[in-house]
Amino acid sequence: MTMTFRHGHNCTDGPLVCVIPGDDAAPEVVLPTVELLHELVPGIRFREALSGRAAQEKYGDPFPKETRQAISAADCTFFGASGGPSRPVLWHLRWGMQTAVNVRPVRWQKGYRSPLSHPERVDYVIVRDNLEGLYPPREGDLSELVNLPSSSSWYLPPKAGEQGAYSIRVSTDEQIRRVAETAIHVAYERQSIGYPGVVTLGAKYSIQPRTDGRLRELVREMVQAKAGLTYQEYLIDDLARRMVAEPETLDVVVLGNEHGDILADMAAGCIGGMGLAPSVCYGEDYAYFEPVHGSAPDIAGKNIINPTAMLLTGALLLDYLGYMREKQSLEDAIARVYRQGTLLPIDQGGSATTRQFIAEVKKAL
Ligand code: NAD
Ligand code: IPM
Ligand code: MN
Repeated sequence: MTMTFRHGHNCTDGPLVCVIPGDDAAPEVVLPTVELLHELVPGIRFREALSGRAAQEKYGDPFPKETRQAISAADCTFFGASGGPSRPVLWHLRWGMQTAVNVRPVRWQKGYRSPLSHPERVDYVIVRDNLEGLYPPREGDLSELVNLPSSSSWYLPPKAGEQGAYSIRVSTDEQIRRVAETAIHVAYERQSIGYPGVVTLGAKYSIQPRTDGRLRELVREMVQAKAGLTYQEYLIDDLARRMVAEPETLDVVVLGNEHGDILADMAAGCIGGMGLAPSVCYGEDYAYFEPVHGSAPDIAGKNIINPTAMLLTGALLLDYLGYMREKQSLEDAIARVYRQGTLLPIDQGGSATTRQFIAEVKKAL
């Protein structure tokens, strides 16, 4: 088990990236971002593959074999979001390609419309289990639980004949180690540029000793074995409060799958919204890139979706492929446009369309 955070590539051909625009408003941010990335690094080869309705129309299948092959043939995938029709592709990108750990940086910068009075304190990275926990769904009839042993003394088994259902939560040591390994990697990378090297675990280890308790035990052990890193842990509900009230105490935050899903949106809300939050899913030999947000169906077709999350996700792609200088230029250009504040996306209080904002970032490059 070794995660890959940077992908070496054959310099003569250049890396190959599979682009899957996805559903609803997602293509409105994916396609112009890919255009910009291609102008910035002409050496990257982008190959578009279809999913969802577009794939259904062309191939009679929302996830055709052509798209599956394009994903496998590429060094990584750049994905918009699923609004339902592309869901089988998302399943494949996570569980099929075993992209085990999801990394979601959360950083406010000047120009972002945060609801907090001191948003400059928000600058941390969420490291989330991307495969286990309650995902994928394994649900069943309550009657199957009648003889289930519990790790708590106060558990009452369902009464015979009681109607209902259950959901199973799974946690393997191997997957916890991948999550911890990723958190350690991120903490060291950040430490090398001046961050404190603090890894914070949030989980419900008080109530789920076998799953979240094991997560706590292994992450703590692995982080504490590393020179120069500090470990801290909080129950998940307390951590949620800290993310709002004292975000400056956080550097790298380790979360289970569903806790990470929920708190990543909350964290995005703290800096100014879903339009600002990038993400990458790393595996042992593959990675895929998508923003934290979904397909934003309520604003599809209007050319108003904020492309910042997708652009910053593009910067994570450049990092993965080793284009560090270009990654920095892109992040700097985005920061400059926000700092200037004359042409901001609509969700950030401006009036720029998606295309206008991207054109402004290109100008700032
Ligand atoms: P969402 O993130 O798509 O949208 C939530 C709200 O945020 C909406 O009001 C939307 O307009 C707004 N928003 C999202 N991205 C924005 C952006 N870039 N700029 C401006 N506003 C933005 O979440 P949802 O509405 O709960 O889900 C819609 C669909 O997306 C669902 O089918 C859901 O399952 C799916 N989803 C997919 C992914 C993924 O593919 N990775 C992630 C989250 C949700
Ligand atoms: C996310 C999304 C997904 C998740 C959905 C689309 C399955 O909300 O990537 O945050 O729950 O992980
Ligand atoms: Mn989510």
